[in-house]
Order: sequence, then structure tokens, then C-alpha cells
Amino acid sequence: MQSIAYYQEIVANYFATANLQKEPANLYSPVTYILSLGGKRIRPVLTLMAAEIFNTDAHDALPAAIAVEIFHNFSLVHDDIMDDAPLRRGHQTVHEKWNLNTGILSGDAMLILAYQYFEQYEPATFKALAKLFSKTALEVCEGQQWDVDFEDRNDVTEAEYLKMIEYKTAVLVGAAMKMGAIVANTSQENANLIYDFGLNLGIAFQLQDDYLDAFGDPETFGKQVGGDIIENKKTFLYLKALEHGNVNDKQEVLSWFASQPENPTQKIEAVKTLFINTGADTATKAAIETYTLKAFATLDKMEISAENKEALHTFGQNLMKRTV
Ligand code: IPE
Ligand code: IPE
Ligand code: MG
Ligand code: MG
Ligand code: MG
Repeated sequence: MQSIAYYQEIVANYFATANLQKEPANLYSPVTYILSLGGKRIRPVLTLMAAEIFNTDAHDALPAAIAVEIFHNFSLVHDDIMDDAPLRRGHQTVHEKWNLNTGILSGDAMLILAYQYFEQYEPATFKALAKLFSKTALEVCEGQQWDVDFEDRNDVTEAEYLKMIEYKTAVLVGAAMKMGAIVANTSQENANLIYDFGLNLGIAFQLQDDYLDAFGDPETFGKQVGGDIIENKKTFLYLKALEHGNVNDKQEVLSWFASQPENPTQKIEAVKTLFINTGADTATKAAIETYTLKAFATLDKMEISAENKEALHTFGQNLMKRTV
């Protein structure tokens, strides 16, 4: 196992040298644009790490890792349309820089482009990867639909919320890792355990994403702070504010989340104050830790070297500390 920086470098090198720009420019320019903005690239790094954990050279898993990252970027382009988001990775979102139709079609092209990367594998591996990918991609769509459906509901339960984030976010993190295991041709048991590790890490990751959406630093966060509040997203912060707030707090939360003010500044500030006063912020932090620890518990069940466990442990710890 190499350092995390080593795997990041492999992914960065790939995107720096791959030439994905073709004609028509208006179809491919948004693809190269969003990919060039980078992002943390945690999913492809996890694919490469998983392959090496199961004794296979990271480069063998590179096509699968790139497929996962391109799929993720596709999902962001469409997610930003659905969430009416102006900013991504510190720059204009695709649909703002170009237009809605360009965002839709470039996103579609990226989804197909992602699939093509699996063609580089021999039939048995191809089939296993494509099967996992299709299942995962559909689940992401299901999660995204729940996320949007919940905007118009005020009775979303914690169980519903957890299922929604499992589908929209965590399954892809699990699948990214399982793909590394598939390329490495390890046992089904190992592949399932690494999936569970990724799944729980992914749940912690989305909880942290919710937290940062409200409490991130606008200077460095790269997305519009308060975007979830503007869109009346039923995040963990919202659910905990309703659960722990007094009658007044609850009433205020419900009333803000039934509104769509022209200028959202006051709403964002009021809701953030409610999140703090009700302890929703600390409850969210606690849940992030709980799911990270759950992921670590899966590690204990795996028959891999102590050094490899430590590397995954460090990765999880770092994710918990992230600010972007
Ligand atoms: C954002 O994912 C979307 C979620 C699933 C929370 P990331 O936070 O991994 O975004 P980038 O790729 O680093 O920009
Ligand atoms: C995104 O969830 C999940 C997917 C893109 C599938 P969010 O809508 O919270 O992601 P961000 O915050 O815009 O990155
Ligand atoms: Mg979004
Ligand atoms: Mg969204
Ligand atoms: Mg978010």
C-alpha cells in the first residue's frame, strides 16, 4: 500500500493527460470543464486503494476508478440543475455557465462515457463491474428522487432520510471500493466487507456534506453556503432541530421551511441560529462520528494487513476533519 497522495497523483495524471474534448464543442466542453475543476476525487482514490489492499496494482483498477469519477461528475451536473445551484468547486455550475439543455445532454454523455471505461476489462470482470455499476446508478437516481420529493414534505422521518442519503451518496462510495475488489478478484466476502466499509463512510460523508452546506466557510467551501436551506432540503440538521427544539423552535423551523423568500439571507441566518440553538449542529457532528466508527468496525472483520487497515482508518479520519 502506497500513500494516499500516490493514488491521488495517479488520478490527477490521468485527467491531466486524457483528451476528452471532441466535437461538438458544446457537448464536450462542459465535460472537460467540470472534470478540470477537480474536486477531492475521493471515490477513484478509494477504488485504487481497494485494489491494492487486495494485492493488485492500482493501475489495473484505473479504468474503473475513472468510470466512477466521471459518473460522479455527471451526477453533480444534473444535481446542480435539480438543486438550482450556482456554484460548484468554486466556479459557475455547468447549467449557469452554458444553459439547462447543455447541462442535461453533457451530463447524459458523461454517464455513457463512464460506462465505456469498463470495456477495457475482460468479459468476466466487465460483467461484474457493469452489473454493480448499473445497480448503483439506479439507486443514486432513486436517492436523488427522494431528496427532491422530501423538499415538499414536513413529515420526513430519520429512517427515510438515512435511506435517502444511503442511496444518493453512500452506495457509490461502497461501489467505488467494491470495484477495486472486483478488479483484484478477491473473495466475495472481502468484496462485501469493503462495500460495507464504503457505505458507512459514505453515510458519514453525506452527513458532513449537510453540515458544511450550512456551516462551511463561504471563502473556501466552493458551493453556495445555505443552498440546502434555500431549497428546503430535509437534512439531518433540519430533522434534529425539529426533534430537539422546543415548541417555538419547531414552529419557526417549520415556518422557514415552508417559505421561499426572494432574498434568502435572513432565512439562512435564522435557520442556522435555530440549528445551533437546538443542538442540531452537535447532533450532526455526533452522527458523523457514529457512522465513521461503524465503518471502522467493518475494518476489524476484514482479513487484511494492519498497515492496510491503518491506511483506511486514516482516510476515514481525514474525511471527518474535512472543510470542503
Ligand atoms: C459532492 O461530492 C456530492 C455528494 C455526494 C455529497 P464531493 O464532496 O465528493 O464533491 P467533489 O467531487 O469533491 O467536488
Ligand atoms: C448530492 O447531494 C448527491 C448526488 C450528487 C448524487 P447534494 O445535493 O447534497 O450534493 P452537493 O451538496 O450539491 O454537492
Ligand atoms: Mg446539490
Ligand atoms: Mg442534491
Ligand atoms: Mg450537499
